[in-house]
Amino acid sequence: MDVKDLNKRIKTLEEQLIQALEEVESQHDLQQVKSRYLGKKAEISQLMRHMKDIPDDDKPAFGKAVNEGKQRFTELIEAKREEIRKAEVERKLRAERIDLTLDAPDFTPGSVHILNQIVEEIEDLFIGMGYRVKEGPEIETDEYNFEKLNIPKDHPARDMQDTLYIDDEHLLRTHTSPVQVRTMLEYGGEKPVKIICPGKVYRRDDDDATHSHQFYQIEGLVVDETTTMSDLKGTLLKVARAMFGEDREIRLRPSYFPFTEPSVEVDVTCANCDGAGCSVCKHSGYIEILGAGMVNNAVLKSSGYDPKRYQGFAFGLGIERIAMLRYGIEDIRHFYVNDLRFNRQFR
Ligand code: PHE
Repeated sequence: MDVKDLNKRIKTLEEQLIQALEEVESQHDLQQVKSRYLGKKAEISQLMRHMKDIPDDDKPAFGKAVNEGKQRFTELIEAKREEIRKAEVERKLRAERIDLTLDAPDFTPGSVHILNQIVEEIEDLFIGMGYRVKEGPEIETDEYNFEKLNIPKDHPARDMQDTLYIDDEHLLRTHTSPVQVRTMLEYGGEKPVKIICPGKVYRRDDDDATHSHQFYQIEGLVVDETTTMSDLKGTLLKVARAMFGEDREIRLRPSYFPFTEPSVEVDVTCANCDGAGCSVCKHSGYIEILGAGMVNNAVLKSSGYDPKRYQGFAFGLGIERIAMLRYGIEDIRHFYVNDLRFNRQFR
């Protein structure tokens, strides 16, 4: 083979390449053509082997012809690559074209559920007073839900909270009070505690207008060396006023909870009649809103706090009850069925 034959051969290969490129439709096809015409085994790459048979004088021209051929092949292939890329962009743009003249679908943004709104409102109030928000598991142990809260197994106080048991030791928590226990144990009996615990709780109740097998509570707990019952009362007054209006008053009635001593039931003056008596407050002027008390020494002890040094208060309130009183909602089931006509009223 001499230089003339070589040029002819390269010309032929180039024509074949041009033809092959016409068939190419994708980057994948292109890659195959490229390896066929420019790869290690491609004819043009093999041509260099003939160098040894070429007279010395012709060698530079021979090498130049092969390299220039390769250069042209590469340019042809790269030009095709660019062409395919552009065609792909073009195709994508066409496929994703937006028709601005079409009607928009009927789109209404959602909103935070009323129960979560109230939880957030109460959290804000307490965070503002230096409390921390703590959460805990909804599947609890008997120990944290009852025993450490001064409710031993088989104690009649268990009747106060109808319980959904999973097995002998596990249950769906009946209140958020086990989070108190968990936090006190976590703090190791040394640090003051100032927390609220929001969350879902469960009772073995048949659902009706005022009962639900699942509802929301927020529990509050303060433990330190100087906390007194008047701190509790001041705090509860603040909650009552934040929830029901700045003119509200509260009263405490003696009650019983195993985990607090003394225990109280807390009433707020009826916002509907301002305490004068009406059908909402059953003509008493007051509405019961929560339970509270001074943390029982037995609970401090079982949670690792020395009752000789520490004392504290706790309270627990039901979120649904607050929402029902505030908005005159008569059936607790409205909160859970996700009827948008109901939910939208609280946007
Ligand atoms: N854990 C009580 C309940 O669910 C509420 C409560 C909490 C009462 C804290 C007193 C103190 O019934």
